[in-house]
Amino acid sequence: MAEPILKVENLHAGYDGLPVVFGVSLEVMPGELVAIVGANGAGKTTTMRTICGLAHPLKGRIVFNGTDISGLPAHRILKLGISYVPEGRRLFAKLSVEKNLALGAYAENSPAEVKRRQEEIMEIFPILRERARQTAETLSGGEQQMLAIARGLMSRPRLLMLDEMSLGLMPSLAEKMMETVVAVNRAGTTVLLVEQMVQETLEIAHRGYVIQNGRIVQSGAARDLLDSETVRKAYLGM
Ligand SMILES: Nc1ncnc2c1ncn2[C@@H]1O[C@H](COP(=O)(O)OP(=O)(O)O)[C@@H](O)[C@H]1O
Ligand SMILES: [Mg+2]
Repeated sequence: MAEPILKVENLHAGYDGLPVVFGVSLEVMPGELVAIVGANGAGKTTTMRTICGLAHPLKGRIVFNGTDISGLPAHRILKLGISYVPEGRRLFAKLSVEKNLALGAYAENSPAEVKRRQEEIMEIFPILRERARQTAETLSGGEQQMLAIARGLMSRPRLLMLDEMSLGLMPSLAEKMMETVVAVNRAGTTVLLVEQMVQETLEIAHRGYVIQNGRIVQSGAARDLLDSETVRKAYLGM
């Protein structure tokens, strides 16, 4: 059996010492596309921020690729191969698309290598090639989200973590984003994503975890979750 690339054990996390995530455990296998789904305020972002080192775990263990990363600073975790695309995109609005991409490869100091990765990524996101010289703020919402994902890939992560990439996008664009993530995953990047769009997300994920009030209440094959009575009632309005 292969080892999980990410293993979160009994994670408690929160703000000013007060937990909002209570004992979350989850695993991601190499090559998988795993989703954490749940309502607004359930603890998805807190879980993600804690995994990637932007928040300190109150309790529990996070093991990435065999290394205990619990409590390591974010820049070290990024270097170990986890790239986090935060909620709300956080692009450098006044910088060009190209420059935003280059900053995603911050640990790479060979300009030729940065250029090579930009080229590779523009193959996956052709719209970014057309927009290469424009500032990020002139892009549409969907294009900005593409750029955020593309920037997340510039560090060549072993694990790409995406936080609510569909938020604020119209349904057709949200769908396009889902397709993009499937393509990125098929090209070999392991993905952990969190979403409020439960149905659409479980349709593309291999496995899923359902989070409610800071606790995982259900997990399994995404297909089975979609069929589950609890999920259908609570999230799909059926
Ligand atoms: N910076 C913060 N300080 C205090 N409480 C927060 C902060 N961010 C989020 N919370 C609270 O933590 C809980 C989980 O939030 P969050 O992880 O953002 O949920 P989700 O991403 O699933 O919407 C919510 O009750 C939210 O109000
Ligand atoms: Mg969130």
